[in-house]
Amino acid sequence: MNDNGLLRETDPKIAGVIAAERDRQNDTLELIASENHVSGSVLEALGTVLTDKYAEGYPRKRWYRGCENVDSVEQIAIDRAKKLFGAEHANVQPHSGTSANLAVYVAALKPAQKIMGMHLAHGGHLSHGRDNNISGTHYRAVHYRVREDTETLDMDQVRDQVLLERPDILVCGASAYPRTIDFEAFGRIAREAGCLLLSDIAHIAGLVVAGLHPDPVPHSDFVTTTNHKTLRGPRGGIILCKEQWGGRIDSAVFPGIQGGPLMHVIAAKAVAFAEAMHPEFKDYAQAIIDNATTLADELMARGWRLVTGGTDNHLMLVDLRSRMPELTGHQAAIWLSDAHLVTNKNAIPFDPRTPFESSGIRLGTPAITSRGLRTEHMKVIAGWIDEILSCGGDEQKIAEVRAAARELCSRFPVPNSSY
Ligand SMILES: Cc1ncc(COP(=O)(O)O)c(C=O)c1O
Repeated sequence: MNDNGLLRETDPKIAGVIAAERDRQNDTLELIASENHVSGSVLEALGTVLTDKYAEGYPRKRWYRGCENVDSVEQIAIDRAKKLFGAEHANVQPHSGTSANLAVYVAALKPAQKIMGMHLAHGGHLSHGRDNNISGTHYRAVHYRVREDTETLDMDQVRDQVLLERPDILVCGASAYPRTIDFEAFGRIAREAGCLLLSDIAHIAGLVVAGLHPDPVPHSDFVTTTNHKTLRGPRGGIILCKEQWGGRIDSAVFPGIQGGPLMHVIAAKAVAFAEAMHPEFKDYAQAIIDNATTLADELMARGWRLVTGGTDNHLMLVDLRSRMPELTGHQAAIWLSDAHLVTNKNAIPFDPRTPFESSGIRLGTPAITSRGLRTEHMKVIAGWIDEILSCGGDEQKIAEVRAAARELCSRFPVPNSSY
C-alpha cells in the first residue's frame, strides 16, 4: 500500500489491518526462512494500475486488445529472468512456486506418470509428490530421503533409488535442507536413468544468482523458483527451461493451469530481477550466508544440535531434543514469537513426533539481513533464542527478550516501513 491516506478514508477497516501488519513486521525479527522484506520499488510496482489489465496469452499473442504496455512489462521481465539465470526460455506468469511446478508436470508428463522428489519429512516440498497435493494425486509419486547418520543426501543412494524406481521426472530442491544441492550429480543421474530433471530452487534462487550456490540451469531440463524468498521479489513463481521446451511450458501455464496473468506482479518481478543484477545483491546474499553461519555456530556453541551439524545456505534446523527433550517445535515457536522472534516449527528427518508437534524449528536469515542485521547481531539473537528455548515458558524471561528484540528492531526498520 502506498499510504497516501485514501484507503484509510474509504476502507478504514482494511487500512487498519494493513497498518497493523506493517507495525508487526517492523516490531518483530522475521526468522522464517522462506520470507523476506521487498524493496519499496517492488512494493510500488505491485500497487499499480497494471492490476486492471486482462492479458491472457503472451507478449504480442494476446486474446485482448490494449496490451501494448503490459506486453512491454512482460517482455522486460522475461528478458531479465533469462539474463539473470542464464536460461534459454523463461515463463514469468506462474502465480506461485506450486503453480510453476504443476505447469512443469503438465508440460512434461501424462497423468499417472511417475514423479520422484525429496520426501517432505526430509526437507522436500508438498508439490514434489505429496499425497495431499495434486502432484501426488494425479501422478504416481515416490521419494528419496536423506541418510539417517548424516542427515544429508547421499548421491550414490539417490542414484540407486532412481535407477530402481525409474521415474519419468526427477525433482530436486527443498524447503528445509541446510546443505548445498549437487545439481550436477542430479543431472548425471537423470541422464543415466533416462528421465527429466526439474530443479526447484524456490529457497536458494537468490544465492544461485549471486554465484554463492552451484547453478542448476546447465544440468536441468526445467528450473522453477519462487520470487519471494532469497530472491527478494514479490510473491509468485517463474519457470526456466531449454528452448525446446518453451512452447510446451507456455501452453501448460496458459491455458493449461492458469487464466490471465497478474501483470502488476510481473512488473514487480521485473523490478526484483533488476535489483538482483546489481553488484550489491551479491553482498546481500553473502551477508545472508554469513549471518546464517554465525547464528548456527552460536547456537551449537550453546549446546543446540543442528540437523546435519550446521548450514551451507540461509537456513538451519534446530533439533530441540538435544537440550530440551520434552519441548516440541510447536511450543517453541509460540514462545519465540511471544518474544518477537518469528519462526516456524519443523519436522526434523526421522522425527518421532507428528508434523503438528515436531521436534524442530527452522530458522532463516534472508529477512533479518534485508533490514541490515549483520553477524554481531546474530550472536545476540542466538543468545535470545537459547534463553527462550531453555526458559520453560517463563513470562518474565519472554518479556525481557521481547523488550530487547523490539529495541533492536527499532534501530533497523524494514526497508519499506513507510508503506
Ligand atoms: C522448494 C519449494 N518449492 C515450491 C514452493 C511453493 O511456493 P508457493 O508457496 O509460492 O506455492 C516452496 C514454498 O515454500 C518451496 O519451499
